[in-house]
Amino acid sequence: MAFRLALIHRRVISNEKNGRKSLHTLHVERQEQAERSVLISCQTSTNEKKFLKYLTKHGEINKYFFYESYGVYAVVEFANQESVASLLEGVAIPGGSHESAVPFKSRLLSLRNLGSVDSSNQLSGWQCQPQTTIPINELIKRLSREESINKQISSLTEAYQLTEENSRLRFLVCSLLKDIATAYFPECTIKPFGSSVNGFGKLGCDLDMLLDLDSISGRNVKLPKSGLSLEYQMKRANSERAVTQSILSVIGKCVDQFGPGCVGVQKILNARCPLVRFAHQPSGFQCDLTANNRVAMKSTELLYLYGELDPRVRSLVFTVRCWARAHGVTSSIPGAWITNFSLTVMVLFFLQKRSPPIIPTLDHLRDLAGPADKSVIEGNDCTFVSDFNKIQLQSNTETLEQLLGEFFEFYATFPFSRMSLNIRKGKEQNKPEVAPLHIQNPFETSLNVSKNVNASQLDRFVALCQESAWLLQQSETSTPRGSGVGDEGAPTPWGLATLLLPSQVAGIKSRKKRRREPASERIKGLLESLKNKNQLKKS
Ligand code: GTP
Ligand code: MG
Repeated sequence: MAFRLALIHRRVISNEKNGRKSLHTLHVERQEQAERSVLISCQTSTNEKKFLKYLTKHGEINKYFFYESYGVYAVVEFANQESVASLLEGVAIPGGSHESAVPFKSRLLSLRNLGSVDSSNQLSGWQCQPQTTIPINELIKRLSREESINKQISSLTEAYQLTEENSRLRFLVCSLLKDIATAYFPECTIKPFGSSVNGFGKLGCDLDMLLDLDSISGRNVKLPKSGLSLEYQMKRANSERAVTQSILSVIGKCVDQFGPGCVGVQKILNARCPLVRFAHQPSGFQCDLTANNRVAMKSTELLYLYGELDPRVRSLVFTVRCWARAHGVTSSIPGAWITNFSLTVMVLFFLQKRSPPIIPTLDHLRDLAGPADKSVIEGNDCTFVSDFNKIQLQSNTETLEQLLGEFFEFYATFPFSRMSLNIRKGKEQNKPEVAPLHIQNPFETSLNVSKNVNASQLDRFVALCQESAWLLQQSETSTPRGSGVGDEGAPTPWGLATLLLPSQVAGIKSRKKRRREPASERIKGLLESLKNKNQLKKS
């Protein structure tokens, strides 16, 4: 144990030399914090001081915060794990009433206040940490007050990104679920992946979780060539997929029947990637639990790495994701829409195509990898460097404002009908198969991550890119409106705020309708000017 801690410590020091943690370090730290934490539903009539005094009887508290989700909750992180055990010793099982309780104990608790109600210093007066983003109208107002487009982009990133508290809560929910899964697999872990940890998550995004059974000891125990040895007898299934399905089926049932706060459990076991979907009410998270999904964890690591390389990466991804959501280019409902994952890869590809490139290609990151980075999953090479210090960036000084405008121009004129986007090579390539939008899966290279996108959704995306590029070129929308105020004293939208307004992009719902709209004339003009510009560049 001490050796493992020393190893982790050394890794933390080397990665943090320039202030950047590897995703692995982040996972280790956050998981450890989560194990020392409890989640308590509070009554607002409780005095906060009394609440803390009661808890500190069990040990020192490192951090605590309150938030609202169907009532007020507190996340309390103790300094030592023993404090949690001590606290749980005195927790009662609810009795009485006409309903019976499933006696499954977890670190999700309810505070009861049977004594006198203290009216001073009540929880209701205490600041709750927001766990959702501000509404789009609020955001538009906030952005309109900024004095440059660069500041607008930073302000959007600031408003949307996950907070320290929200990130802690995500790891705590994983840790609470792990307590259910360990009933069957005592050595398993549950890790968040996707936008909860890749650096591109927006407050309120879903919580993607991976039930990790790879760390179960015994996998790497080699049988000796001679002499006696023992092997576990294990039940066998036809395929790894069948094993994943049966594990998720059982864990899904437990979550449904015993998991406190878990509601609306759906087992979606026949999907390409089998999963259990449910809502965790106390945190307000929509959860997707998968297993044996190592490639998704690698994609998460890769996105995280790219996001940490240059601050412009995250800011541009946040801006493009927000813009896409505001115009219904992406949706929370699955369908023929572009997904956030595809959109993020599009931003990365665009940044690789800058001159000089802002981020390196995946092939370059693979070439920099050391022996410990080697990873082959189901025959796919998922190797890439994890040490930030080995990556040399080129000195591109473009501003976020320039990059945003160029992003829209790039995709307004991209030859989607012929070419596929490939972040491995940082180059477009001839499409290997027919699909309106082809984005090569970075690790499973024969797959298209945007296979679901239909022609009309791609058309909408291109039309919106054309219009947004055009809007950013107009002086009346690309410069601050000074002290001008619109309806009800709100500042007049300008710059990025204009790009988020629905009215500006009306009429591109269908091709037929668009032809009749005056906007089509503007878009045609824009296309002409972009074509001319491209021809000039080529000649
Ligand atoms: P949100 O929309 O904020 O949830 O973004 P997300 O990045 O979490 O996307 P999502 O929840 O759809 O997927 C979770 C993770 O699964 C992604 O970050 C990727 O790592 C992976 N993933 C999603 N879609 C694909 C895909 O089409 N191909 C591959 N290879 N991985 C995917
Ligand atoms: Mg997600």
